[in-house]
Amino acid sequence: MIANSAGTHQSLDGFIATCRTLIENERPIAEITRAMEELVAEPAALGAQIPEPVISPDTSIAGVDEILFEDDSLTVFVVHSASDVRQPPHDHRISAVIGVYEGTEEQRYFRRDGGSLVRSGGADIGPGDVLTLGPAAIHAIGSTGSWCRAIHVYLGPLSSIDRSLFDPDTFDEEPMTVERYAEFCRSAVPGGSVNVEG
Ligand SMILES: [Fe+2]
Repeated sequence: MIANSAGTHQSLDGFIATCRTLIENERPIAEITRAMEELVAEPAALGAQIPEPVISPDTSIAGVDEILFEDDSLTVFVVHSASDVRQPPHDHRISAVIGVYEGTEEQRYFRRDGGSLVRSGGADIGPGDVLTLGPAAIHAIGSTGSWCRAIHVYLGPLSSIDRSLFDPDTFDEEPMTVERYAEFCRSAVPGGSVNVEG
């Protein structure tokens, strides 16, 4: 259970209920960011609430995304990012709030430049860190050395939004699909390889 600034405790289920209320707020991004900061303030305690996923031959090379909640206004995922994998650039078309509770989520940012992409900075976010992305953001996540586990909140129905995926080598843009996302994963270790056949 997580202690928040009000001195009460919040479970992951409680966080989702809080987000469903805050999404109706005039400033939902700021409020959900604050709620996320409280949620991941004790990352080990949060991690103890969330089982690690069972890995099977069908598991994506990228790791495991588990949808905890989704409706027309809000999506909440647990994102377990596999170690030593760099995932491809993509957008969301809606705002996102990310909080890490285990490992380090490598964030690489991009921006559009004419018909292509250019790199535009990055950050490594670790346990207790929170990141907010606007609807125009293009990012790529990865994890080095160990799996990274994070809560990703999106201010809309992420699964049903038509959005873009970018080839990590050419930056060519194409529609996001789960299958192509996995194909575009690359090793995060110099000289390493990723089995893209899954
Ligand atoms: Fe993303």
